[in-house]
Amino acid sequence: MSRARLKVVATEPVGPYTLLRLERGPVEPGIPGQFFMLEAPGRLLPRPMSLCLAPDGELAFLIDPIGPGTRALCAARPGHRIAVLGPLGNGFSRVENPLLVGGGIGVAPFPYLSKWLGSPPAVLGFRSAWHAEAATLVPNAEVVLEPTYVTEAMPSGFDVLACGPAPMPEAVRTLEPAAQLAWEAPMACGFGACYGCVVEIDGMLERLCVEGPVLRSRTTHPALQH
Ligand SMILES: Cc1cc2nc3c(=O)[nH]c(=O)nc-3n(C[C@H](O)[C@H](O)[C@H](O)COP(=O)(O)OP(=O)(O)OC[C@H]3O[C@@H](n4cnc5c(N)ncnc54)[C@H](O)[C@@H]3O)c2cc1C
Ligand code: FES
Repeated sequence: MSRARLKVVATEPVGPYTLLRLERGPVEPGIPGQFFMLEAPGRLLPRPMSLCLAPDGELAFLIDPIGPGTRALCAARPGHRIAVLGPLGNGFSRVENPLLVGGGIGVAPFPYLSKWLGSPPAVLGFRSAWHAEAATLVPNAEVVLEPTYVTEAMPSGFDVLACGPAPMPEAVRTLEPAAQLAWEAPMACGFGACYGCVVEIDGMLERLCVEGPVLRSRTTHPALQH
């Protein structure tokens, strides 16, 4: 894990999302599914983001501008520097027969994950064709649009790796109990110090930034305690 102020190379629109490309500097990309805390310009607390792509010399994050922090990140201009801490948490594990299953901004870690796993098949769900432009970043992807859900299009017989907004991971796990699932909780520090991300996992209160965000073969839902 390292901390650095990385220069913005470019911001590129991908449907309603923004691909924020940073010079990599000394920061390692880590394992897909791990995350980084990104300084949000003008905000006190950094925001957790999954690594989307790791081209030579760069780290890129796909960001959904849903609030002040994410909007400030999407508005960053080339040449600005953004403080980055990471990689943090536990990422995905390699499996024999992978299938990526995701929805909306939950596809953010998939381009990097897909490269790591050799472009396995993916089933991605979106609200609209505009949102589905994010699927162009994921090779070998089948896209479904609402009102069809990814769980309806998910073939069986694969090792599922999933990421998406609640309640999608829960629905995936009902069908594939052994799936690896990336969960979300609000995070203030990202490395176990603030206890702001505590969730219930297997009946125990745990910090999602330390135990997750990718959880495997859990028997109970990591219910938010906030
Ligand atoms: C491990 C991890 C990886 C993430 N990766 C990405 C990514 O690659 N791309 C991306 O766009 N977003 C990602 N997120 C979500 C992102 O961090 C939040 O959207 C962001 O912090 C919101 O900040 P804001 O200031 O824009 O909005 P805020 O004003 O902070 O939040 C807007 C609304 O969303 C809710 N909210 C904020 N953060 C979360 C959260 N983590 N879980 C549930 N509800 C939340 C708030 O309660 C509020 O209602 C990730 C989150 C986690 C925990
Ligand atoms: S975000 Fe601070 S302990 Fe997890």
